[in-house]
This record gives sequence, C-alpha cells and structure tokens, in this order.
Amino acid sequence: MTIDTTHINQQMTHFDGHQEIWLFGYGSLIWKADFPYLERRPAHIRGWVRRFWQGSHDHRGTPEAPGRVATLVRAPGAICHGMAYRITPETLGPLDVREKNGYLRVVTELHFDDAHEDSRASESAEGLVYLATEDNAAFLGDAPHDAIARQIAMAQGASGPNRDYLLNLAAALERLGHHDEHVVSLARHLDGKIAG
Ligand code: SIN
Repeated sequence: MTIDTTHINQQMTHFDGHQEIWLFGYGSLIWKADFPYLERRPAHIRGWVRRFWQGSHDHRGTPEAPGRVATLVRAPGAICHGMAYRITPETLGPLDVREKNGYLRVVTELHFDDAHEDSRASESAEGLVYLATEDNAAFLGDAPHDAIARQIAMAQGASGPNRDYLLNLAAALERLGHHDEHVVSLARHLDGKIAG
C-alpha cells in the first residue's frame, strides 16, 4: 500500500447522499479540531484500543526521522473514548489530506457519552473513523514504552514537535475524564526525556 491514502479514501461511497456524517476522533482529532463541524459530542467506540504505533512522516516527523502518532488496534471487549463531530461531506476532503499518511476511513458505530444528559439526544450513530492498519507503509508497531517515548521526544514535523501531540492528547483525555493507560504511561516516560 502507498503511504498517501487520499485517493483511496475519496473512493469511499458508503455515505454518498448523506447531508451529515459523524466522525470519531481519538488522536489529534480530539484536541485539534481545525475543521468546520456542526456539533461535537464526547463518544466512544467498541472493540478498539488507541496505540502510538503509527509512524508520522509529515505532521510530527519526517521520512528520515518519523514521529509516532495514534492509531487504533483491534481489541475485542475494549472501549476507546474520544470526540465525535457532526460534519458535512465537504469537510472530508481536507480531512483526507490531513490523515493521508496511512489512515483509511472505516465505518464504525459511535456511542455518545452524553446521551443521558438529554433524553432527546441519540445514543449511538453510524459514523466513520480514520485508522492506520499494520499493512500501511508508515506503520511502526509496538515497542517498549521507553523507546516510543524517546522517539517522540526527538521527533519533529511540519505540525510541530511530536511531544506536543502526545501531551495534548493526554491532557484532552484527562479533561474528558478518561484514563488511557497507554497514553498515561507514554507521557510519564516522556517526562524524563524532555530537555530543558
Ligand atoms: C484521529 O485523531 O482520530 C486520527 C489520528 C490523528 O489524526 O491523530
């Protein structure tokens, strides 16, 4: 598979004819919503865990010195918390470009965490998520947390230092009231590696 997945994603027809689409964000899409959206709601998806197993050649690293960013890995019974955005189909174009380094659009069921606050609010919806599977060219996979944190401490890309991605995600999950042990552990390992 080529690294640039823009073209593959633009062939998706699943939501053709829909005026609105729910998008689930679990990585930078939680804390960097630099795209237009109609509504956002905290949500989770089932059967996936968040892992810093995807290489970043663009936003948080370079092809020579890739950073590490989040993707989802199948884990039956697991829950991954994040943020859902109700967007119009026009927003998918820029999102495909943003997520082009190996991420594919995948259809998923979203469960809203705030449904109990308003009895008229829907509890779940079909939506999409961008995820990078292990057969994409930028996939790095598992490694000891100390090594992942060292790589994150060193890497830098067009969107800034890789460490900001991890620390912003850790802070956003904390604000949402969710403990993700993988993210917390990496942030802890990173702490001792940031110079100055
Ligand atoms: C996401 O946040 O949902 C996808 C991965 C990323 O852009 O960090």
